[in-house]
Amino acid sequence: MLKLVKNQSDALFIDSVQQLLLEDMEAVNTLIHSSLHSDVALINQLSNYIINSGGKRLRPMLVLLAANACACKGSQHINLAAVIEFIHTATLLHDDVVDASQLRRGNMTANALWGNEASILVGDFLYSRAFEMMVAANDMRIMEIMSHTTNTIAEGEVLQLLNCHDAETTESRYLDVISRKTARLFEAAAQIGAVLSGQPEPVENALASYGLHLGIAFQLIDDVLDYSASPEDTGKNVGDDLAEGKPTLPLIHAIHTGTPGQAKLIRKAIENGGHDNMQDVCAVIESTGGIPYTAKAAQREADLAIEALNPLPESAYKEALYGLAEFSVNRSC
Ligand code: IPE
Ligand code: IPE
Ligand code: MG
Ligand code: MG
Repeated sequence: MLKLVKNQSDALFIDSVQQLLLEDMEAVNTLIHSSLHSDVALINQLSNYIINSGGKRLRPMLVLLAANACACKGSQHINLAAVIEFIHTATLLHDDVVDASQLRRGNMTANALWGNEASILVGDFLYSRAFEMMVAANDMRIMEIMSHTTNTIAEGEVLQLLNCHDAETTESRYLDVISRKTARLFEAAAQIGAVLSGQPEPVENALASYGLHLGIAFQLIDDVLDYSASPEDTGKNVGDDLAEGKPTLPLIHAIHTGTPGQAKLIRKAIENGGHDNMQDVCAVIESTGGIPYTAKAAQREADLAIEALNPLPESAYKEALYGLAEFSVNRSC
């Protein structure tokens, strides 16, 4: 298995942000649990299963950090943090069906336990529950941002589907996919913190840009971890991307910089998918430096995220946003 130099303090960092946001995070978790209710038993069962299996809760943290960095008043940031986690969870339910994944958050995936149909439908329930909660906030601007966001995520997932098994996928097509499927939600989370606080446009744009770059860095490292991490750290199986023939950056880089033989091996692996040639693919990624190359790209995005925060006043929340950018690059979970 490929190794990335890991920062051992992931859990400590997440704990420290949770401590900083203690009251708000508790309120978000309470709202998440109370909002799951349905009189359809399978919805309760499956949605509680995925929500209670944990997750880092990074996106709600991002809403809360951005809102607090802007001295937000009121309680809409709690509501929106829960909305964003619901949308994230819905995308995970759908994504695990599309990726045929068996492990999520250290547990069997919902699709492995209840089947694809139930996962898709409960994912739809979470999406639409998120929109019910958002409508209650009665803020047209927020609804506009969130409806564009969910639309863009869907486009990202469909574009990714088109790239699967396509060894001609370029770095720019790959970046387009990860910007839409992952970074757009991070962007919305951070932007919403500013919108709810009534911040002027430059601050809103600064936070949106922070979120976008953070999200790109986050997904670049997710794609590294799919070749280099252990299921104990990520709670997911390694090799899922290769199995689906996903042309992620470590593979794209290997095709462009490897020997003709190496490039051929990677192309075939993308075209055929499956788990069988994981070892050979890892050996090529290793010798073409695909892990450090992707990690460097993530670091550049994290640096852009940090730079984007310049217009914000200094605060413990802004410091935590800096920390989140570094975490997204150095994480092993
Ligand atoms: C997983 O996101 C999906 C990606 C965008 C890579 P997270 O790693 O934030 O998942 P949880 O919520 O902590 O399980
Ligand atoms: C992120 O992509 C998926 C979403 C944005 C929903 P991945 O397919 O890499 O996410 P994981 O690795 O399954 O969490
Ligand atoms: Mg997946
Ligand atoms: Mg992944």
